Amino acid sequence: MLIKKISDITENEVTDKSLYLSRRDFIKRTTLTSAALAAGFSFIPNAYGGLNIVKKTNMAIGEKVTKEKAAKSYNNFYEFTTDKEDVKKLMENFPTDPWEIEITGLVNKPLKFSIDEVKRFAGTEERIYRLRCVEGWSMVIPWNGFSLSELIKKCEPLSTAKYIQFVTKLNKKHMPGVRSNVLDWPYIEGLRMDEAMNPLAMLVFGMYGDELPNQNGAPVRVILPWKYGFKSIKSIVRIVFTDEQPATSWNIAAPDEYGFYANVNPKVDHPRWSQARERRIGRFGKIDTLPFNGYAEQVANLYKGMDLRRFF
Ligand code: MTE
Repeated sequence: MLIKKISDITENEVTDKSLYLSRRDFIKRTTLTSAALAAGFSFIPNAYGGLNIVKKTNMAIGEKVTKEKAAKSYNNFYEFTTDKEDVKKLMENFPTDPWEIEITGLVNKPLKFSIDEVKRFAGTEERIYRLRCVEGWSMVIPWNGFSLSELIKKCEPLSTAKYIQFVTKLNKKHMPGVRSNVLDWPYIEGLRMDEAMNPLAMLVFGMYGDELPNQNGAPVRVILPWKYGFKSIKSIVRIVFTDEQPATSWNIAAPDEYGFYANVNPKVDHPRWSQARERRIGRFGKIDTLPFNGYAEQVANLYKGMDLRRFF
């Protein structure tokens, strides 16, 4: 697996928004840039968005970035609807400001962060990752945020903390989908501690150089590129450190279909369909799915000795 830093992305793969940035946006960006410089980050001008990206890493070398419009209008967010093309519209009035994330459980330092504090916490990186949905489609997306491990270290987990659980906001007034019992609400997900500490695991508050739009999990979510998309939980409000494997929404709903680990694995089929190939949004035909979604070199050692059919 090639990991290359890139300081540029080809023009046809992105939309240049700098052309129509307002004066207010310009001032905001300039101020943030000074803050990033003061914090010791080298600043790479961002050609196409409103966030100040201090480092870019392409982890989907040779693959075309999915068109921004497609990535922002074909979404899974069951708290709103099961229809991927309706999520965006239904989320237009979803309130994300103010927003706090609470970190509790087996830690020395329980913390509460506002979303602005989260953004200032570490330099914003851009990482181009493949994301493979369990349903058989995939995208290549530039995510903006930083390694989840940065935040975890800050809370000083106790040695007894073996797992970490994430909880999505439950807002019955604005989430029409929670009236259905397709899942237990709030949406919950979890990771083993060493998975959460892996540098690939990302806390994300932007994409394509801009703030996350509501439908993609505003204001903050997790992205785990080696796992099926349902592990990449959106709009989180709570992170809990535990000593036991936490329950997860899809595993509660259908334990035979959605395991706790959910590592992308072309050799282990979903009981109702094959996982060997995938449809890349924006491309014709299908392509082979790679073990761990192509990130085996970075993460396979986390599962050494485990029977991946049993721990699917
Ligand atoms: N997070 C919450 N809270 N609710 C959801 O329904 N869907 C998951 C995941 N995170 C989901 C969620 C699934 S199934 C996928 S494939 C990804 O979000 C989709 O993320 P995207 O819309 O940004 O592509």
